[in-house]
Amino acid sequence: MTEHQQHYRRPLSFVRRSNRLKPSYQRAWDAALGNELLEVPHGARDTSVAEGFTIDWREEFGRTAPLIVEIGSGSGEAIAHAAASNPETDFIAVEVYRPGAAQLAARIRREGLSNVRVACLDAVEVLDKLLPAGSVDELWIFFPDPWHKAKHRKRRLVQESFVEKAARVLTPTGVWRLATDWSDYAVQMRRVISASASFWNPHLGQRAGDISPLTQVRLGDLDAASLGKETHPLPYEQALDTEGGWAPRFAARVTTDFEQKSVTAGRRTFDLTFLRSAR
Ligand SMILES: C[S@@+](CC[C@H](N)C(=O)[O-])C[C@H]1O[C@@H](n2cnc3c(N)ncnc32)[C@H](O)[C@@H]1O
Repeated sequence: MTEHQQHYRRPLSFVRRSNRLKPSYQRAWDAALGNELLEVPHGARDTSVAEGFTIDWREEFGRTAPLIVEIGSGSGEAIAHAAASNPETDFIAVEVYRPGAAQLAARIRREGLSNVRVACLDAVEVLDKLLPAGSVDELWIFFPDPWHKAKHRKRRLVQESFVEKAARVLTPTGVWRLATDWSDYAVQMRRVISASASFWNPHLGQRAGDISPLTQVRLGDLDAASLGKETHPLPYEQALDTEGGWAPRFAARVTTDFEQKSVTAGRRTFDLTFLRSAR
């Protein structure tokens, strides 16, 4: 199968409605390209990476430092804040949405952050082609698109096939941090990552029962859209999450506009942390 055929067989976790940038973003894009914004030759799509293209990250950042990769960084609120607070760490923001990537690149330039690069590419391509095995210390995915309709769930980023891609790039002591406000996706994340021998959950069994955010969401009718209106509210026995395994809020994760809107709407955030199992 050719690269082109392979690429078109995989359901994408995003839909690109327009590639157009408003003039101010276009100027930011042009100024950042080849600097804060990685210039990458494309493959089958403009979000894919040309076969055989690689990046020497040590050369790119001009040093050897711990590396954190955020997938779906949006306009980069979380990663820009983290990069400013941790100048001794290097960061890669992977965001397929061009206005978001342009906005982040402009911010990095404005704030003079030399430890962040933006990849306006499909994260799956970045994991497979641009990140060597065992090169990433932390992988962050905060509020990935939930694709809530059953017929669209195959588009979700965090699914079985993705887990081993994440495992490959993490160091033997690497950390994978996730957050979502969609309880059904939180359960999927917990299930598919827990099922992999490549990861273990340091919060196994924690925040179970009545104190589980999942129990609270199910009982409080906070997330009816995620669970299906017809199933709500669930009787106590069915609502009870006996498994738990939820992480405390990751202290370095700033509240983005996206999360703020979700909180205002009465939704709950689920944090998950997984550690890479020894090979
Ligand atoms: C709901 S937003 C959350 C943004 C940000 N993490 C926040 O908390 O505000 C999800 C983001 O993931 C991006 N995204 C979806 N699939 C992606 C992929 N395969 N590669 C890179 N970015 C992706 C979308 O473009 C979108 O900006």
